[in-house]
Order: sequence, then C-alpha cells, then structure tokens
Amino acid sequence: MDKILVLDFGGQYNQLIARRVREQHVYAEIKAYNKITVEEIVKTGYKGVIFTGGPNSVYDPASPHYSPEILNAGIPILGICYGDQLMAYMAGGVVDSAENSSEYGKTLVYVDENILFKDVPTESVCFMSHTDYVSKAPEGFEIIAHTDKCPCAGMWNEKRKLFGVQFHPEVTHTVYGTTIIKNFLFEVCNCNQDWKMDDFIERTVDFYKKKLEGKKVLLALSGGVDSSVAAVLLNKAVGSNLTCVFVDHGLLRKDEGDFVEDTFGDGFGINLIRVNAEERFLNKLKGVTEPEQKRKIIGAEFIHVFEDESKNLGEIQILVQGTIYPDVIESGKGDSAVIKSHHNVGGLPSIMSFEEIVEPLRDLFKDEVREVGEKLGIPHDLVWRQPFPGPGLAVRVIGEITKEKLDILREADAIFREEVAKAGLEKMTNQYFAVLTNTRSVGVMGDARTYGYTIALRAVTTDDFMTAEWTRLPFEVLERSSSRITNEVKGISRVVYDITSKPPATVEWE
Ligand code: XMP
Repeated sequence: MDKILVLDFGGQYNQLIARRVREQHVYAEIKAYNKITVEEIVKTGYKGVIFTGGPNSVYDPASPHYSPEILNAGIPILGICYGDQLMAYMAGGVVDSAENSSEYGKTLVYVDENILFKDVPTESVCFMSHTDYVSKAPEGFEIIAHTDKCPCAGMWNEKRKLFGVQFHPEVTHTVYGTTIIKNFLFEVCNCNQDWKMDDFIERTVDFYKKKLEGKKVLLALSGGVDSSVAAVLLNKAVGSNLTCVFVDHGLLRKDEGDFVEDTFGDGFGINLIRVNAEERFLNKLKGVTEPEQKRKIIGAEFIHVFEDESKNLGEIQILVQGTIYPDVIESGKGDSAVIKSHHNVGGLPSIMSFEEIVEPLRDLFKDEVREVGEKLGIPHDLVWRQPFPGPGLAVRVIGEITKEKLDILREADAIFREEVAKAGLEKMTNQYFAVLTNTRSVGVMGDARTYGYTIALRAVTTDDFMTAEWTRLPFEVLERSSSRITNEVKGISRVVYDITSKPPATVEWE
C-alpha cells in the first residue's frame, strides 16, 4: 500500500493534513519530527513526505529542525507554512520576519504554471497564518506563487521534487487546497488510491482470523462508536471466541443499556454479557461531590467490575481495545496540563494480564471508523452517535449522585435530544445534552408553589472538542424543550441554556 508521511513540527492542522490525504484514498501517517530518522523514512518506502506547519520561527534555537539529508533522499516533499520555511532554511534560502509581512485568514494568492497547481486558477483564495516568510528562495528553487504581501508564497525544486507553500492547502478556506493536495499525491508522488474502507475490513478480518485462531478474546463494549465497531469487526474474525462485556454502571442515558444489548446481543449475535452494576457504582459514589473524585471512583470501579466478570470466563488470552489513530499519534508538541482525568475503557490492561492487546482501529481517524461502522451494518444512529463520556451522567449531575437525580436527568435529557432531532438539527450541533444542576429554585404551577431543580441545556459546535462554541440553537427548539421538561419531568422548576464557549468553560460541567 502506498504511504505518505506527515512529518509533524507541532502545527495545529496536522491531523487535518493526514485526513485530507486519506480522503483521496491514500494512506497517510503522522510522525513527530523527533521520532523518525531519514533512514527510517527511506526504509519504510514512503511515496512522499509533507512537512507540517508549526508555531516556531526557524531561527529560534528551540525550534524543531530536521536533518537536511531528507532533501536529498529522492522522496518528493511538500512543505507547508513552517514546513516551507524550514525547507528553505535547510536548503540555504533566507527566512525573514517583518511585522507588516504577516498575513492571517483568507488571502488572494497568485500562482504560476506548475505541476503542483494543475487546474488551479492564476488567482484564488488561500488561507494564511504566518509572520515569518521566505524572503529568498534557496538556490535551485524557483518561486511559483506570491501574494500582495508575500513575495514567495510557493517554491519548487524541479529536479529534487521539493515543493513549499506558505499557505495551508489542508484548510477548507483554501479554495483549491484539495486540488493542490491531489496534485502532490498523484502528479508528483504517483500514488495509488489503495486506502479503501472495504479493503480495510476484509484485510483486518482476515488478519485477525489467522492471528487469533483458537484464542479466547475479550472486549469491553461501551456502546460508543469505537468499541462497537471493534466488536463487530472482531466478531467477524473470531465469532464465538469473542466475548463482549458491557458494564452498565447505571449512569447511562435513557434506554441506552437496552439498546446496546438489543443491537449487539440480539442483532449481531455477539456473545454479550451485560453486567448490571448500578448498585455497586451508586454505593461507591454515595456522598461524593468533588468532580475529580467522582471520575476516579468510576474509573476504578469499572476495572473491578470488569475484572470480576472476566474471572468467571476462564482463561482469556486476548484483550481488544477500540483505540483510534488520534490516541496513538505522538505529536511534535510539548506536554499539556491535565484538565480532567478522562476515563474510558482504555484504562483496563495495566492490572490485568493478557497474552496480547489488539487494537484493530489504531490506524483509523474517527470519520473512517464511522465509515467502517456503516459498512459493517451498525445502525446509523449508533455510528453517528454524539460523544458520551466514560463516567456517563455522573459528570452531568452536579453534587451528590442519587438514583432519583439520575432518573430526573435521564428524562429531561431524552426530551431535549428528541426536540433537537425533531427539528432536524442533529448535524447543526456536535454534542448536546442536559445537566442537572444542584440549584433549586422557586416556581409556580397551577396555584401552588414548587421548589425544584434547575436543568441546564448545553449544545456545542466544534471540530475537535479541544475548543468549542455554544451552538445557536433556534429559540423555538429551546422553548419547546423547556416547556416540555418543566411539564413532563417531575422535580424540575426551571430550565436554563448554557452560553459559555470552551475555553473558558469545558464541554461537560464536571
Ligand atoms: P470537556 O468537558 O473536557 O469534554 O471539554 C471534551 C469532550 O470529551 C468528552 N469527555 C469524556 N470522554 N471520558 C470520555 O471518554 C471522559 O472521562 C470524558 N470527559 C469528557 C466530553 O463529553 C466532550 O465530548
């Protein structure tokens, strides 16, 4: 299979670059610049390399650099933004910084006739985000694009098949970005389009059929997209040797546990054990109000339940995990602060011993996992399900968690989701849910005074959940939700809408 390497210098659009390549059915993988050598690149046989952007300046001693030998390795390279400047610097060109040379946002770019710009008009809109710029192209390079402020917005070295662009072709604001990426892949690197999800399924199933023959395989199914797709794939490969354990911690949304059981147990005929552990979890959570403590208790209890259950299954050699590609990329950036201790089923193996852990989805981006899910016949609603946190509704019930509060929240949340769906707005917002605040307020119903909980509704629009905008849901949808919730759910006297973005808030309330 043909492969492209995205060499990561710490830019914010690196995953986007790899996804743009994969959209063209060419496999791309991301490696941090300090995690792969030129020899390894050559040995792997990449058809091309893309240098990503990055926040640094090439003259800053702390900025990420790479061995200039890569330029002579005979592999086509496309440098983007910082990657373009780095290429220029490594090849002996000059990079400059001037306040009045910085460009941000949509910018007109003028391109010359070049293989990289085949089918790109002479003048079009691109996306720029830079202060430094290449002020003198290296020897052997020719300038192939410019903007009103940037004299070298593109360059190439024909003999060595090296290209650099100051703008970002991976960002959709660059109108001909896809064309430029296609030109690099097919005109310059001569890639084959052999990355297809149908082939992926066939290859993966065949691979695990052979690899896991005769072994007992265990998977923790959460009902989320990743573990569901992993379960159906592995079920195709090893059939009844796979057992899925679904821990129902009592913190799921309305009817969710039954839906998972019906879909996978009855529908796909998977060996499914549903563990009803609500009581265990609620006992452990009794009296606990601190968000991090809640998360830790749930994470630990999850492991205990799973462990107890798997003990009853006899010897199991293999654990399957639904790890996906963004979880395994080692980025070229530094460490960031922990805001919340996220919990998902990935935290299992450290205390349990298995012969091997297999991760059938570790090469896939989320949208590819979804495509595989659709092709495997997993219900559309599940494949496109909004994210749901591992600790479930525990992080949406503020203060102490009780069954009564969970039931109130489940009803309110179901109404809100139903109203968003009825209005056909599921695609307008990336995650939307209700939160049971710990605040009670006075209300009036009929002629009587009420004193019930306040429900907060939350909906966010985001690409990556690292930052998010609050979604501007139509007032009518909010009004219908509010009116139905206060009428239909006992114990609620007020509904508010959360209009905070991330940052400064997070998506979940806890
Ligand atoms: P925050 O609240 O951190 O949420 O802005 C960002 C995204 O992550 C989800 N989330 C979790 N997912 N385990 C998960 O698997 C967790 O512990 C967890 N906490 C938050 C959240 O729903 C949102 O999509």
